[in-house]
Amino acid sequence: MQIEKPEPAPVVQPVPADQAPAPQPPKSTPKTVPPPPASGSSTLPFVEKYRPKELSDLISHEDIIGTITKLIDQNRLPHLLLYGPPGTGKTSTILACAKKLYGDKFGPMVLELNASDERGIDVVREQVKTFATTRALGVKGFKLVILDEADAMTHPAQFALRRVIEKCSHNARFCLICNYVGKIIPALQSRCTKFRFGPLDHKAVEGRMHQIAQAEHIAITPEAISTIVSLAEGDMRKCLNVLQSTALQSGERGEVTADMVYQTTGKPHPEDITRLLEWMLNEDFTRAFHLCWELKTAKGLALQDVATEIHARLLHVDLAPMVKCDVLDQLSTIAYNASYGLSEKIQFAGILAVMQRARHSVLQMAAQAQGQQTQ
Ligand SMILES: Nc1ncnc2c1ncn2[C@@H]1O[C@H](COP(=O)(O)OP(=O)(O)OP(=O)(O)O)[C@@H](O)[C@H]1O
Ligand SMILES: [Mg+2]
Repeated sequence: MQIEKPEPAPVVQPVPADQAPAPQPPKSTPKTVPPPPASGSSTLPFVEKYRPKELSDLISHEDIIGTITKLIDQNRLPHLLLYGPPGTGKTSTILACAKKLYGDKFGPMVLELNASDERGIDVVREQVKTFATTRALGVKGFKLVILDEADAMTHPAQFALRRVIEKCSHNARFCLICNYVGKIIPALQSRCTKFRFGPLDHKAVEGRMHQIAQAEHIAITPEAISTIVSLAEGDMRKCLNVLQSTALQSGERGEVTADMVYQTTGKPHPEDITRLLEWMLNEDFTRAFHLCWELKTAKGLALQDVATEIHARLLHVDLAPMVKCDVLDQLSTIAYNASYGLSEKIQFAGILAVMQRARHSVLQMAAQAQGQQTQ
């Protein structure tokens, strides 16, 4: 069936990606990071090969690292609660602390439990308590209990830990690590000094990425590095994994480019988002759906990514405030539905419907304004 295309002038000009203000990283002075270790097995994934060995190797969290270093130097380390989004250096920080505290005596002095270990109430009562109350032969000072991914611990286990922490403070320090601090009971939170590991500073991550690319002899353009960094949103683990996989994919093809990063990660290219927005806002529904769906399937774009990118772009589009509020509100519902795995096609049509409604409102408002002028 031939679709008749109405000829209204473009209602809303989507902001091209290069004109949209780039996300502002948190302000902090970029630090000259030490070169990553040149040695290490070539089979190791970059995330392990370049895991910071010492506190000074960590980038971006200067204040936290400075405070923890001082506390260790003055032998006044409190119980710690490190929390924040993934890939920001929480586990690396406490491992570097343990290394600074114990050097090669690490083994008998540190108990590290993470989500893959059983950490129910029995383990807290027996394993953790026994470790924290006994002294290691020939090593002075307190022991360290690291409870990584502590937000996955059951409530009874957390309640039991409360008493253990209090009873064993003379002999052990506890470090709880988690992504969601709200899942740690208040009584445990108040026994610890809390440090929030926010997303890493983009400039510092870029610096580290350049060093790692150089150490690994990966030819990569500066644009490709900034693309990786902005897609990772302050998660260094994500950056390193994308760097390693794009470098592998580029193989003999030479330099890693920003386009290759989008291909490897499957994230929508900014030009694709511009095209989608143009169609959604300026074509009639049937034609727009046909064009957008075709592009989405041809490029294998995930609905969630499309919704996220459109949302980011819309924040900078010149739209009447109430129209913009409606669009953003409905987009958030679609993104929520998409995260629950509801039908991609239905949700995609939903995005289009939202945009078309916005277009309709803008046209109506323009017609009203024109009517008032002619009166
Ligand atoms: N601040 C940082 N400085 C340098 N490298 C970092 C930093 N944060 C993370 N990395 C890199 O990312 C990898 C993962 O870091 P880490 O395991 O410490 O993250 P995490 O905060 O514990 O994440 P999760 O919450 O998912 O456990 C490290 O091996 C390291 O290579
Ligand atoms: Mg961790």
